[in-house]
Formats: sequence, C-alpha cells, structure tokens
Amino acid sequence: MTASTASATPQDTDKWSAAADVLVVFGITGDLARVMTFRSLYRLESRGLLECPIVGVAVDDWTLERLVQRARDSIVATGEPLDEEVFGRFVGRLAYVQGDFGDAATYQRVGEAISGAQHPVFYLEIPPFLFGRVAQGLSEAGLTAAGRVVVEKPFGHDLASAKALAAELHEYLDEAQLYRIDHYLGKMGYEEILYLRFANTVLEPLWNRTYVECVEITMAEDFGVEDRGHFYDPVGALRDVVVNHLMQIVAAAAMEPPSAHGQEALRDAAVTLFRAVKTADPAHYVRGQYDGYQDIPGVAAGSTTETYAALRLEIDNWRWQGVPFYIRTGKRLPATQTELRVVFREPPPVHLGLGSGEDRRPVRDEFVVKLDPSTGARLVVDAHRADGKGPRAVTLDAEFADEGGEGATPYEVLLHAAIVGDSGRFKRQDVVEENWRIVQPLIDDPPPVHPYAQGTWGPAIAATLVAGHGGWQGPWIVEPPTEVVP
Ligand code: BG6
Repeated sequence: MTASTASATPQDTDKWSAAADVLVVFGITGDLARVMTFRSLYRLESRGLLECPIVGVAVDDWTLERLVQRARDSIVATGEPLDEEVFGRFVGRLAYVQGDFGDAATYQRVGEAISGAQHPVFYLEIPPFLFGRVAQGLSEAGLTAAGRVVVEKPFGHDLASAKALAAELHEYLDEAQLYRIDHYLGKMGYEEILYLRFANTVLEPLWNRTYVECVEITMAEDFGVEDRGHFYDPVGALRDVVVNHLMQIVAAAAMEPPSAHGQEALRDAAVTLFRAVKTADPAHYVRGQYDGYQDIPGVAAGSTTETYAALRLEIDNWRWQGVPFYIRTGKRLPATQTELRVVFREPPPVHLGLGSGEDRRPVRDEFVVKLDPSTGARLVVDAHRADGKGPRAVTLDAEFADEGGEGATPYEVLLHAAIVGDSGRFKRQDVVEENWRIVQPLIDDPPPVHPYAQGTWGPAIAATLVAGHGGWQGPWIVEPPTEVVP
C-alpha cells in the first residue's frame, strides 16, 4: 500500500467512494468507447442503473449531435437491439467538451461542464502515457478533491515501469482514488469461482494440498492477432493476458476466504495470496508463436514475441505447498475457452470383488469452472454405471446460461462499480506490483519461442511442463477440438 493511502483518513475514503454525480469519459471518441463503453452505459441505462450525467472529453472538434450519432452507431454495431426510448434517455445525459489533454484550459472547461458535482468519476480511456498529464490537469483544476479516476491497462510493461506509473499518478491522486480496470474482475466466472469455493461445504475442505494434485488454468482463443499487430508485437501473451487477467484467476482459485466485510477484504486476500506465490522460474516457462504471425501488419520482421505462453507457478503456503498451478494461453488454438480446472489426487485401485474394471485405476476427479465464452461448472468423477461397460469417468455439468446465470457483461459490471464506488472490483497497486514481481524473471530471461501450427494446442514441448501430472486436461468445450490435446 502506498504512503499516500496510509495518510488518508476514513473521511477521505468515504468521500472518494461516494456514488458519482457525474461520469466524465476522457477519450470518448476513441475505439474503446466505440466497441465497449457506449453499449455498456446504454445497457446500464436500460436496467435503470444509470443516474448521473455523462460528459465526454476528447481532442476532436465534434458537436454533441455527432457524439450522439457515434453512440447510436456504436451500440447498433455491437448487435445490441436499440430501444429508442432508452436511447433517448441515455443520450439526454451526454455533454461534450473538446480540448487538448495537454492544455490547462481543457480542465477549466471540464470544471464548468461538471460544476456543482460533488463526486465526479473520471474514466480515462486513453493511452497510459497520458494518465499522468490528465491526473495533473484534473488535480490542478481542483476537480479531484472528492472524486476518483478510473484507468485502463496496461499498468506498466514490467515491475519498474509499473512502479514509475504509480508514482506519477500518486503525485496527484491517493491510491484510494484510483480504480484500475482488469475486465476479468468484472466477469461472471470470476465471481462464480469465489462464490462456489466459499459458499459450498462440499468444496472448501477438499481445496488444498491434501487433496489437490494440480490446478490448470487455460485461456484458449481460436482467433489470432489480426489487425492488432502494432499493439501486440511489443507486448506478447505474458504481458497481454497472464500478468493481469490470468493472475486474477489464480487469486480467485487460491486465496483464503476474505476475513472481513468491506470493499478491501477481497483485495487484501488477493494480495496476501500473491505474496506467497514464488517468483516464476524461466525453466518452467514455454513460449510459442503461431505460423503466419510474422506476416501480420505491425509485427516486426523476425519477431520472437510469444502468442502462446505456458508456465508453472508455485505457492509457498500451508494450503498450496507442492501443488503446481499451470497456466496456458494462446491465440489461434482450436477453440475459444477459458477455464479453471482443479485436478484431485489419484485414488488407490478399487477392490470390491464385484466384477469388471477393477484392475483399472480410477481417474482423477476434477472440478472445472468455465468462464468464457459461457459459464458453467463441471465435476468429473469415476463411476460404475450399470448401463456401461465397467467404470469410467462421467461428467456432472451445470451450464449457468441454462440456469439463468448469464448477466451483465464485464464492462457493465465495472462501469457500474466505478459509478457507485465499489473499489473491490478494481486492482490495487500492491496487486499490480506483486503480479509483475512474479513474472519478472520470465521477462528478463525468456526461453526461446517455438513455432506451432494454427489450430493446434501450441508447441508440443508445453506437454513437458505438466508431465507427471497427467498432461493438460480439457478445456471443457461444447464442440470437441479435432486435435488431440498434447
Ligand atoms: C484483452 C487482450 O485484454 O483480453 C486480448 O488484450 C484478449 O488479447 C482479451 O483477447 C480476452 O478477453 P476476453 O474477455 O475475451 O476473455
């Protein structure tokens, strides 16, 4: 936790977490607003969850009419059915301020546009190199005293730059005023893992080193880098999704139950867990790059950026000592599916003397929570079914879409949380730094990158990581892939 938060009084934190009376979106004419923000805010409006005015700020010389048209086009382009009455209410909240983010006059105009607001929320949908400048402008215009600022990833490109970025922001803002978005913290499946773990007596007693053999987290994507070459090539899979999104799944799978009420309890539990995660070892890290990646516009000739990453993490605490956590992610794999899979220890042979199949070792039980594109839970158990030929693994599945469990999209959840002041949905700087600390040796000393064919499960060598633990399992997908999992 930073020095600035340590000095914040309870009165400070109360005013910084009060419900917003205006939402100010910097960069409202940009891509993220087009693909994500307008639709999310519109959906909040349709659910009766939007109550404050919205002020867009950008450098473009746009009229309000043009912004309203952009909002309409953006929402329609996402496939969201447009209800004119809801849309009318939504755009009735909009105002627009044009200005250069480097110009102090811009912040004066923002101040005039939100005059009278007590608890503004400033959402920065802008490149991180501008965060500090905008925070300074807002602060010097006297707009941040009782407000908060929401920022988008990346939070640095390694541990040192993450610390430098935070130091720059902390010149103008207290840590408690900073809401860092990692959209995995807004996913239904993330919440589902935590809830299933801590709300079910049948799970929690087994969720430890006594019963668990290993934990596997898979984030597979069947699409590639397409038109994002310029963004992706300097970044790669480790920085793009492991250090942020998949680390949150590690936390949800491995943290202790939060020990108190209140917004900070979950974040405290997450950072306590991360402190117990050993710094990753490059000897247990496999990098891959799909064939054809180098032909993508924006990708450097001879690039060694990984589009596939698989690694092993170890957690040094009473619950997890000796239980490997395997993470794998890749683009252009056979399917799109993100899941958490807890693999339980192998049972002994069964000797009932009742018939066939007893010379066979029962399979390991598994508990799976899938997060994307749909959510659900699966229990894999070994069973002797009367209608089958001897014992075999059977799956007990709950698709949460069927159970009515699909709800708000991550950005709806997070924008609503930002508006109402629910800081628990956002990443604290101590978590950001712990996540970089864990992967830093993989950045400093990366192993060679192995090519893999598109539509396969990545380089075959990744199987060596999990050798001894039964190989990679899953992922649980509706249509099985044509390839065999290595
Ligand atoms: C983004 C990454 O943060 O997350 C993308 O930049 C990735 O490369 C995406 O595809 C995955 O998000 P989701 O919600 O589709 O799992």
